[in-house]
Amino acid sequence: MLGEFEIIPAMPEMLSDILALEEACFSSPWTRKMLEGELTGNQFAHFLVAMRREPSKTKTEPAIIGYHCFWIVFEELRLMNLAVRESMRRNGVGGALVTEALRLGLEQAATRAVLEVRSSNNPARSLYTHLGFVQVSSRPRYYTNPIEDAVLLEMNPLVILNDRQQDRNVVRGGESASTDSL
Ligand SMILES: CC(C)(COP(=O)(O)OP(=O)(O)OC[C@H]1O[C@@H](n2cnc3c(N)ncnc32)[C@H](O)[C@@H]1OP(=O)(O)O)[C@@H](O)C(=O)NCCC(=O)NCCS
Repeated sequence: MLGEFEIIPAMPEMLSDILALEEACFSSPWTRKMLEGELTGNQFAHFLVAMRREPSKTKTEPAIIGYHCFWIVFEELRLMNLAVRESMRRNGVGGALVTEALRLGLEQAATRAVLEVRSSNNPARSLYTHLGFVQVSSRPRYYTNPIEDAVLLEMNPLVILNDRQQDRNVVRGGESASTDSL
């Protein structure tokens, strides 16, 4: 069972741990340069990480257990990249990371959220459906390695459903919402 976690903005010194997680989670991972560009060189990009609050039992295990990169481009929230460490899945981390993006989008007056996902990615599709996204179209053979269709999901209007579970893990300005354990 996962202990407590918190969600905070990613910092450039976290890049190596984020890259390691990216490479573990995707068949065509973003490169260090791509991740760095999102972290430091894209005015529309936001990058959050989920961190264990308790120190890991093994010193080699990084504290970062998930991350989420998204863009807020005027009225549109665009979810770009989301991953949770395999051993930490089904503990609400992915949902909390997406919910925080929705909240930031709402704060910045975004009115809809969009994303693309591999058609075979049932865990991710299930997560987004759970949060209120619906399929609006598909893009044949959009992905490579392996070649696969993309499904386009949208939430319009942008809303936050079932927010209470996620809210307690978010740290804003150094204050956590609560210390309840999962
Ligand atoms: C998709 C991913 C981010 C989900 O992260 P997670 O932390 O496991 O998600 P959560 O625990 O918040 O799940 C929330 C809900 O999503 C759904 N869900 C998540 N994983 C699921 C799975 N494997 N099977 C079925 N439903 C799933 C469930 O409804 C779940 O609620 P429940 O656990 O109460 O049933 C994670 O599986 C992952 O990192 N996958 C590899 C990278 C990836 O595919 N990223 C998405 C690219 S678009």
